[in-house]
Amino acid sequence: PVRSSILLTASVTAAITAAPCFFTGAEPGLRCLIVYPWTQRYFAGFGNLYNAAAITSNPKVAAHGKVVMQGLEKAVKNMDNIKATFTELSTLHSEKLQVDPDNFMLLGDCLAIVVASQLGEDFTPEVHAAFQKFLAVVVSSLRRQYY
Ligand code: HEM
Repeated sequence: PVRSSILLTASVTAAITAAPCFFTGAEPGLRCLIVYPWTQRYFAGFGNLYNAAAITSNPKVAAHGKVVMQGLEKAVKNMDNIKATFTELSTLHSEKLQVDPDNFMLLGDCLAIVVASQLGEDFTPEVHAAFQKFLAVVVSSLRRQYY
């Protein structure tokens, strides 16, 4: 199992935390709903999501995308204890929302693409590797309360 207590290199921690915009935008969530359309099934209450234009212009989807990113910001701020930080969120996704946990990394991949496009040349192989490690811990922590 992935240890929740991880050591990210200083440069990566700086790259992740120095740009709060990574974790405030709705773009990763929008991308996820478009590229992996089965993820739409959990958002029936958000109205019509029948094509990319409907998804990107839906204010409920955008607002929720930001809430999710705020959740990730919490993980960044509690980098040494992501597992405990996400206990309640894991229970919520498992027991109440019944989200298939395989979807977590799909959103993580969308986030990595957005971060890469924002960082440009600064998204070095080292930053990429550490970012994936961070996402792996996030996903493992979100899966933890599933049984
Ligand atoms: C709600 C975080 C992935 C479906 C939430 C909330 C947070 C969150 C913070 C709000 C919880 C609250 O209201 O107390 C995350 C994080 C994820 C993730 C950090 C992964 C990196 C996913 C995925 C799906 C999903 C992949 C589905 C494909 C939902 C749903 C809600 C929710 C349906 C409730 C929405 C509503 O009706 O308001 N999530 N989430 N989440 N999440 Fe996630």
